[in-house]
Formats: sequence, structure tokens, C-alpha cells
Amino acid sequence: MELVSDTSRPPLVYVKGVPLIKYFAETIEPLQSFQARPDDLLISTYPKSGTTWLSEILDMIYQGGDTEKCRRAPIYIRVPFLEFRCPGVPSGLETLKDVPAPRLLKTHLPLALLPQSLLDQQVKMIYVARNPKDVVVSYYNFYKMAQVHPEPGTWDNFLEQFMEGKVSYGSWYQHVQEWWELSRTHPILYLFYEDMKANPKRETQKILEFLGRSLPEKIVDQIVQNTSFKEMKKNPMTNYSTVPTNVMDHSICPFMRKGITGDWKNTFTVAQNERFDADLAEKMVGCELTAHWQL
Ligand code: A3P
Repeated sequence: MELVSDTSRPPLVYVKGVPLIKYFAETIEPLQSFQARPDDLLISTYPKSGTTWLSEILDMIYQGGDTEKCRRAPIYIRVPFLEFRCPGVPSGLETLKDVPAPRLLKTHLPLALLPQSLLDQQVKMIYVARNPKDVVVSYYNFYKMAQVHPEPGTWDNFLEQFMEGKVSYGSWYQHVQEWWELSRTHPILYLFYEDMKANPKRETQKILEFLGRSLPEKIVDQIVQNTSFKEMKKNPMTNYSTVPTNVMDHSICPFMRKGITGDWKNTFTVAQNERFDADLAEKMVGCELTAHWQL
């Protein structure tokens, strides 16, 4: 494992106009020679949209619903995070070396930084989008506990940074829209966090269909049960409690924080909400995506 001595909160580094966690920015160049396999499956999301949840559902599907097999390693080892690099934890590219095919891979990268091989190999992808108001609240709490990010500052300031696309991974607005566009020409299943909350069994069945797999209904029910927020929060293989404290400090805020929809209402002021809505309407003009959310 690579040792990185500077664990303080370094400023974001811009790569092709996209702000990234400094350590992640350093992996973008080596990542461009990453060789995808046609049987890879890529999980793509803007941060805080339900990536870990989808990852666990997928590993459970791949393991035929066997909970013991899914406890073989933490989620970030079972599903390598392509651009990940962080003090004291194996990088995504290092983790990848030991993962047998068919591989599950994770990324938050916008299309400008995505390794070309994933597109050339026609790798199937599953994207999850979440109500941006819940994303930004979740992200603010994540910035506080995951100290590879810069200091988040005040909530009001963080909200502005998010709206301006100046948080890690850049603009949420561009991310959800460009992946939506890509889903018209590339094999992508585009899911919504809110649909997964409302009917996890239906969404799990959608995933199975997309993968061309089938499992007995009893197993699907077990997968839904084992990937509930309550179960994943207490499971050390999914709740990130195995990550060193200087990387993620769960005493500041647990990674498995609330796992609900509409939590933004406890954080946004009326004025912030009005400003956010007006800005969102401008940035998403002509895009049918926002119809999915009770904003
Ligand atoms: P909150 O901070 O709103 O609780 P990601 O994995 O993309 O980083 O997303 C993290 C968010 O998904 C957190 O949201 C986390 O609590 C939530 N989450 C994780 N597992 C979940 C599950 N099984 N069901 C619902 N939400 C889940």
C-alpha cells in the first residue's frame, strides 16, 4: 500500500476544469490507461447519491444472495473505486489487481475524465441520481467527516459552492445530465435513489433484468432485507468503520447518516430553498430529470 504522509485537508485540484480531491486528481492520468473488460459493470454516481447501497445490492446479486460471501471484505475492496487514492488505504487501481472477473467497479467521474476503455468495451453501467437537495446536505456532512476534503466552511457557504460546481467532482447539474444523455447511446440503467427507497424490490428486479440475470424471489427478498439502511449501518463491511479515523471520522458524523429522502427540509432555510429552486430551474432547463423529485 502506498503511504501518503499529508493527511491534512488539502485544497481541491482542478483537472480539465473539474475540481477533485488532491489525491484523486493524481490518479486521473494513470487511470487513462485502465483496461476495461466487456464483462465489467460500472457503478456511476455523483457523490452521496446511494453508491454504497447500489454497490452492496450488486455484490449480493453477484454472490447469489449469499450474505457470508458478501462479508468477505469491506465494500471498497469488493467494488474498487477507480479514481480512489487516500492516505493509509489501498488505492482503487491497487485493489483492482486482486478482483476476479466479472468485476464491479465504482466511479464518480464526470464524462470528461472517464477512462475511454469503459466506453470502447461497451461496459454496462448503472447510474443513480438523487434529489440534489438531499445530495448537498449529505455532502456537507461527508465533507466534515472525510478529511481528505477541504474544510466545508459554513452550511450557507457550502451550499453556494455546490451550486457553483466548486465542490469535489464539480457540477451536480452537469453530471446528472451528461450521464442521462449518455444513457441514450450506451448501455446504462439510470436509477433514482428515491425509487430505490420507495420500492427496493422493484428496483432490484430492474437491475437483475438489466444484467440479464435472474434469482428466485425468496433470494431477491433477502437481498432487499440485507441491503436496507438499518442492516448496512450495522454491517462493518458496508458502513466504512474499517477505514482509518484520519480518513473518515465517524465520531463527527457516521457515513451511514440517515438514509432517508427529504432530509434537506431540516437544513435548508426558506430563503436558501427559494434560491436553490430558481438556480436549479435555470441550470436544468429543458431536462426532464427534475420531474422525478418532489423539490
Ligand atoms: P445520507 O447522508 O443522506 O444519510 P454514497 O454511498 O453515494 O456516498 O451515498 C451515501 C448516502 O446514501 C448517505 O445518505 C447514506 O446514509 C445513504 N445510504 C447508504 N446506504 C443506504 C441504504 N441501504 N439505504 C438508504 N440510504 C443509504
